[in-house]
Amino acid sequence: MAQPLLEVRDLQTHFELEDGVVKAVDGVSLTVPRGRTLAVVGESGCGKSVTARSILRLVERPARIVGGQILLYGDEPSDDPLDLLAAKDKRLREVRWSDIAMVFQEPMASLSLVHTIGNQIVEAIRLHDEIGKVAARERAIEMLGRVGIPDPKRRIDSYPFELSGGMRQRAMIAMALSCRPRLLIADEPTTALDVTTQAQILDLLQDLQQELGMAIMLITHDLGVAAQVADEVAVMYLGEVVEHGPATSVLSAPKHPYSQALVRSVPRLGQRGQARLAAVRGTVPPPYERPSGCRFHPRCDAFMAGKCDLTVPTRVRADDTDVACLLYGEENR
Ligand SMILES: Nc1ncnc2c1ncn2[C@@H]1O[C@H](COP(=O)(O)OP(=O)(O)OP(=O)(O)O)[C@@H](O)[C@H]1O
Ligand SMILES: [Mg+2]
Repeated sequence: MAQPLLEVRDLQTHFELEDGVVKAVDGVSLTVPRGRTLAVVGESGCGKSVTARSILRLVERPARIVGGQILLYGDEPSDDPLDLLAAKDKRLREVRWSDIAMVFQEPMASLSLVHTIGNQIVEAIRLHDEIGKVAARERAIEMLGRVGIPDPKRRIDSYPFELSGGMRQRAMIAMALSCRPRLLIADEPTTALDVTTQAQILDLLQDLQQELGMAIMLITHDLGVAAQVADEVAVMYLGEVVEHGPATSVLSAPKHPYSQALVRSVPRLGQRGQARLAAVRGTVPPPYERPSGCRFHPRCDAFMAGKCDLTVPTRVRADDTDVACLLYGEENR
């Protein structure tokens, strides 16, 4: 297998609350391929955002990363990877924006309210690129135009509160892309946007991916979006990745019963803007209650009593896909 750009190994991020510990991310392993797009999908609350934030160590109390490795590989196969969880704060600050930029689900949480978007973008660019203010401002204006902000020469001097939600989200995306990162982590970047804008932004991300050779980790509820842009798909359930493989395999012939239920719940998968996750049978259990054995067993159509409720499945390779289910692999028999 080709060396990935980023590898998350057995990541554990817990919320340490008064009533107990919520294992929001409980053994996530995944890889992001170089210059390509990984979509991370799964129902609300399964730990997608916490995983994304953990990659840049942006989790705050009461959340704490308690285990795992996050390896960022260099350009040469012989380069030692950098473990972002073990790296010094200073090194991590160098990685943010220039190697890995992130667009959050809530753009207001990541834009400063007291600076114009232009100043914020220029500052982010100049933190990592040795270019002058004027050149950085030109790049920012160009990028604001490319994400579909009208009259970017004027809008660049707006404060975040002067922009609509959709425009703020675009400004956030422009800021991330202005830094030309090797990896863009985008957490539901288009959910708040109308269908036309959403399509425009996704096209833009794909263009820039080509242009910059940038990898994208795209977190989305929308399997239609995943089908449109992803090369690989990771399916998350209750804090772990239950299936990971090429998008064509995972979306057209999913192996894990949870992935199968997700895909079934989408009418006409592949039609842009139509595919939102409908309900999978049952509901996600409350955060303090982790089912024994396979975490999906109480909701699974293929449940085998005395097996799935007792044995934690090992993740195994089945065809071109990694899957954690007792239906697959010698290890699980
Ligand atoms: N501030 C918090 N305090 C306690 N628990 C939290 C907090 N934020 C998240 N969690 C826990 O972490 C779990 C994962 O949350 P996360 O935001 O990563 O889900 P998600 O997959 O991104 O969902 P969505 O699709 O709704 O964005 C939640 O189910 C919840 O139990
Ligand atoms: Mg989320």
